[in-house]
Amino acid sequence: MDAADMGQDLERVLLTEEQIGTRLDELAAQIDADYAGREVLLVGVLKGAVMVMADLARRLHLPVEMDWMAVSSYGAGTTSSGVVRILKDLDADLTGRHVLIVEDIIDSGLTLSWLLSNLRTRGPASVEVATMLRKPEAAKVDVDVRYVGFDIPTDFVVGYGLDYAEKYRNLPFVGTLAPHVYTD
Ligand code: XMP
Ligand code: MG
Repeated sequence: MDAADMGQDLERVLLTEEQIGTRLDELAAQIDADYAGREVLLVGVLKGAVMVMADLARRLHLPVEMDWMAVSSYGAGTTSSGVVRILKDLDADLTGRHVLIVEDIIDSGLTLSWLLSNLRTRGPASVEVATMLRKPEAAKVDVDVRYVGFDIPTDFVVGYGLDYAEKYRNLPFVGTLAPHVYTD
């Protein structure tokens, strides 16, 4: 599927499938080098991180395990409250593990900040973060994100795991939605 198949729903393509792939090659090489000789537990945050997890993991040469967590911010509205509820916890015991959280997007950074403190209470050897996308708001929160795919503007984006009302996650690229999609 490409932008043309989206009809009038998509305003523009922000990142092509090729750009995403090239950037993931670079991040994977960096992660392989940084964790050389160690085993990594990749922790994907459902559902948005499914695509980046699959594509990043396949590029790594390190021995890795993959686990998943689902979290949800309390409250209504479109902005994150920072109060997080665990919908699905990890299967893995983090004791002594090198944990790499894999995220689709960091916006306010509140979800991630909560997740980091939560995972750090479980005795891991280390916890780092890799995110495909990061919005400017994230700079306001003191969260150290070691691996960032792309810094993007504040516009709402979909595709490559990201949804609007659970749709568009399957797009192989990242795009911005046309305003009529969420105002109609
Ligand atoms: P924080 O706590 O960093 O939350 O504000 C990040 C979560 O907010 C969602 N999010 C988006 N989802 N397009 C989406 O499809 C976007 O542009 C977007 N910005 C934020 C997403 O669930 C992410 O995990
Ligand atoms: Mg998400």
